[in-house]
Amino acid sequence: MVLGFESLPGSLEKLFYMHIVDKATKFAKNEYEKNDLFHRWQHIENVMKKAMEIAALVKDVDYESLKLAIIFHDIDYNSEETPEDNYYNHPNNSTRIAERFLEKNNYPHTRIRKVIEIMLDHSTPHRKRFGEAKSIEGKIIYDSDKSIFITTPELYKKYFPLLYLDETKSLVKFK
Ligand SMILES: [Fe+2]
Repeated sequence: MVLGFESLPGSLEKLFYMHIVDKATKFAKNEYEKNDLFHRWQHIENVMKKAMEIAALVKDVDYESLKLAIIFHDIDYNSEETPEDNYYNHPNNSTRIAERFLEKNNYPHTRIRKVIEIMLDHSTPHRKRFGEAKSIEGKIIYDSDKSIFITTPELYKKYFPLLYLDETKSLVKFK
C-alpha cells in the first residue's frame, strides 16, 4: 500500500518531502545538459535563489511545490526543431517530464497537478492565453524567472511592469 503524505507523521513527512526535491534535483541536473546555454542548470540555481528571497517576504508558501516547479520548469528546452518552437512549447513539454518523474516516484496526484500548474505559470505566452497566476507559488516562479533578467534600462522597461508581487519589486535593484 502506498501512503499519501497526509497520513505520514510530521517528521517522516518532512523527510519524504526533502527526499523528492533532492531526487528531482539529481535527475534534472542531467536533463538540463541537453538545453541551450541559457537554459542550463545554472539558470535553475539563479531562479531558485531569487524565489527563496521572494518567498521569505510573503506568507504561506508551499515550498515543496514551488521548488519542484522551479526544478522542472525549463527542463525540456530542446525537443522542438527551432528556438521559437522551444520557447512556445517548452512549458508543456517540460510538464510532461515532471509528471512522468513524479508519478514514477509515487508523488500524490493532487500534488503533481499543483506542481504542473505552477510550472505553467512561469510562461508569459501561457499567461497571455490563460490568464494570471492564481497561486502565490505561481506568482513567485514568474517573478523570480523574470526579475533576474532586469539588468538594463530596456529590460527593466520590459519586465518590471509584468512582475506580480510588490515583494519582488522591492528586491529589484536596477531602476
Ligand atoms: Fe526559466
